[in-house]
Amino acid sequence: MNSIKAISYPVHFQENGYIALSKLIAEKKYSTIFILVDENTMDHCYPKFIPNLKTERPIEVIEIASGEINKNLETCIGVWNAITELGGDRKSLVITLGGGVITDLGGFVASCFKRGIDFVNIPTTLLSMVDASVGGKTGVDLGVLKNQIGLFANPQMVIVDEQYLKTVTEREIKSGTAEIIKYGITYDLKLFKEIKENNNLKISDLIFRSIEIKNEVVLQDPKENGLRKILNFGHTLGHAIESFYLESENKENLTHGEAIAIGMVCESYMSHKLLDFPKANVNEIKAVVLSIYEKITLLKEDFTAIIALLKHDKKNVNGQVNFVLLNDYEDYKLDCKVAEQLIIESMEFYNA
Ligand code: GLY
Repeated sequence: MNSIKAISYPVHFQENGYIALSKLIAEKKYSTIFILVDENTMDHCYPKFIPNLKTERPIEVIEIASGEINKNLETCIGVWNAITELGGDRKSLVITLGGGVITDLGGFVASCFKRGIDFVNIPTTLLSMVDASVGGKTGVDLGVLKNQIGLFANPQMVIVDEQYLKTVTEREIKSGTAEIIKYGITYDLKLFKEIKENNNLKISDLIFRSIEIKNEVVLQDPKENGLRKILNFGHTLGHAIESFYLESENKENLTHGEAIAIGMVCESYMSHKLLDFPKANVNEIKAVVLSIYEKITLLKEDFTAIIALLKHDKKNVNGQVNFVLLNDYEDYKLDCKVAEQLIIESMEFYNA
C-alpha cells in the first residue's frame, strides 16, 4: 500500500513503515529510543513490534496504565520523570505504541519535553489509526473534560499496521468505526453508503480511505480555523455524553465511538430542525448507528448534567456552544447555535 504524505510527515503502511523507521533512526542518530506502551500493548503489541525495530541504539520501554481515566497531566509527569531518570535528552525519540490515549498523551509528552523531541506514532486501535494518530493533535484531559490541555505537534511519521487490530476487542473496533462513519457523512457519502450496505468491506480499504480524508481536511486547515471543524461532527454533544459517563460512578463508561455515534444521531436531528437536513438522512444515520452499537438510554434526569458539560467544548467562543451541523450529506455549516430545548429534543429522538 502506498504511503500518504501528510503535512510534514508520511503515513506508512505495514512493512514499509518499519523500513522507514529504521532508516529514520539511523539518519537522525537518536541517543535513546523510548517506547511508550500500556499494559495491553506491552503484552500484545510490543512482542509483534520489537522484531521490526532494527537499531543498535539503546531502547527503553515506559509503561503507563491504560484507559481514558489515565490520560491526564499526572501520567505525563510520571512519563517525563521516567524519561529524565533514564537519561533522555534532546536527541531522544519517543515511539508511541497504542491506542488514542497513548498516541495523544505520548505526542504531548514528547512535544513538551525539553521544548520538544521527535516522536513516531504506531497506532494499535482502529480509532487511533483512522483519527487520533494522524493530524497533529496531541494532548490530555483535564478531569473528565476531554483534550483540554494540548498542542498541535506533528510526528516524524505514522506507521499503520493492521496486525495490531488482532489484539483489540470487537468493541474497540466499533469505537473506531464511528469515526469512519463520520468521514462518510461529512465528506464522502459513498463511504457512508458502503458502511450502511456492509458489502464485505475490507478493513484496509476503510483505514486507507479514512486517513486520506482526514489528511485532505487537515492539509487545508491544520489548526482548525474552519474546515477541520467538520471532523467534530457528532463530537460536541458526543464528548459531553462521554465525559458524563466517565464521571458517573454508577454507570459503565462508554467508548469514544459509542458516545460519538449517539452524538451524530442527535446532531443530525438538530441539523434537520435548524438547517433542513432531510429527515430521511436523520433516520438513515440513526438506523446505521443502531445496527452497529447497542442502544443506550439517556436518562431524562441526566440531560441537565450532560448539557452543562457542553460549556467546556473547545469550539466555544464567548461562552457560546458552537455545533457543526449539516445542510446535507457532505455539506456542513460551522458555528451553529442550538437552543437547550432542541438539544434535549435531540436526545429524546435518539432514545425514541
Ligand atoms: N479528531 C478530530 C481532529 O483531529 O480534528
